[in-house]
Amino acid sequence: MIKVGIIGANGKMGAQVVKTVLDDNEMELVLAVDKTDVGKIVAKNVVIEDDLSSALDKTDVDIVVDFTTPKVIEQNIKIYQEKNIKAVIGTTGLKKETIDEIEKKSKEKNLGIIIAPNFSLGAVLMMKFSQMAAKYFSNAEIIEFHHNQKHDAPSGTAIKTAQMMIKNNDNFKSGNCDEVETIAGSRGGNYQENGLGNIQIHSLRMPGFVASQEVIFGSDGQTLKIRHDSINRECYMSGVKLAINYLYKNNTFVYGLENIL
Ligand SMILES: NC(=O)c1ccc[n+]([C@@H]2O[C@H](COP(=O)([O-])OP(=O)(O)OC[C@H]3O[C@@H](n4cnc5c(N)ncnc54)[C@H](O)[C@@H]3O)[C@@H](O)[C@H]2O)c1
Repeated sequence: MIKVGIIGANGKMGAQVVKTVLDDNEMELVLAVDKTDVGKIVAKNVVIEDDLSSALDKTDVDIVVDFTTPKVIEQNIKIYQEKNIKAVIGTTGLKKETIDEIEKKSKEKNLGIIIAPNFSLGAVLMMKFSQMAAKYFSNAEIIEFHHNQKHDAPSGTAIKTAQMMIKNNDNFKSGNCDEVETIAGSRGGNYQENGLGNIQIHSLRMPGFVASQEVIFGSDGQTLKIRHDSINRECYMSGVKLAINYLYKNNTFVYGLENIL
C-alpha cells in the first residue's frame, strides 16, 4: 500500500483526491492537511490538521499530494525537500526560476518530485498537439478560461503550453503592424523566454468554467484552434494516480505529466 498524504485536503481538488485515494485498493490515506475545517474526520484515524511541518513529523508517509495555493507552494516544497518526502505537486503559480531551483535540489538529494500544471490527459494532449503545430505557424495566442476562484494568472497550463510551443518555434509574431493598446492589457500578457517566444496569453475568470484552454494558430489565409475543456475535476484523477504510482517507484524530477505517460 502506498501511504499518501493530501495537503489542501479541504479544497476543490484536494477533496477529490481524498475520495480517489480512499477508493483505490493500492493506496492508503494517512494524512490530510488544510487550514480550514481542522479536526474534520476524512477517513478512519485521519483528521484534518493545520500544521504541515508537525503533521509530517508524526506521520509515516510515502508521498504527499499538494493542491494548496500559489502563496504557500514554494514554502511547502521546501518542507518536503528538507524532510525527504516525495511530492506530487498540482498547485500552480510556481515561477520558472523556482522550478529550476527545485529541480536542482531534487537531483542533489536524489528525491523524486512531480510538478504537473495539468493532470488531465486531454489537456496534456492539447499541449502536445500545440507543440506540434507550433512549427508550422507564424502566429499563436493562448486563451485560458477558469472559474473565478483561481488565484494565479495566467494558468500554469498556459505557461507550460507556451514553453512546449517555444521548443518548436521561438519566434512567433505577436502582431503584424505597429499596435496601439487604447485599453491597457487588451492584447494580453506576452510570454517570452530569454527574449524568445512571443506568445500572447489571455486569461478569463468567471463562474461557470472549471478549466478550458484554446490555442489559436494563424498564418496567411488560415487559422487552427486546439481546445480542451475540463467539465469537472474527476478528469484530473487518473493523472494524479499515475503520478503517485510513478513517484512511488522512481526518484526523478518531473515537470509535466507528458513526461511519464
Ligand atoms: N495540476 C492540475 O491539474 C490542477 C487542476 C486544478 C487546479 N489546480 C491548482 O491546484 C491548486 C488548488 O486548486 P483548488 O481549486 O483546489 O483551490 P481551493 O482554494 O479550492 O483549495 C486550496 C486549499 O488549500 C488550503 N490551503 C491553503 N493554504 C494552505 C496551507 N498552508 N496548508 C494547507 N492547506 C492550505 C485551503 O484552505 C484550501 O482548502 C491551485 O493552484 C490550482 O490552480 C491544478
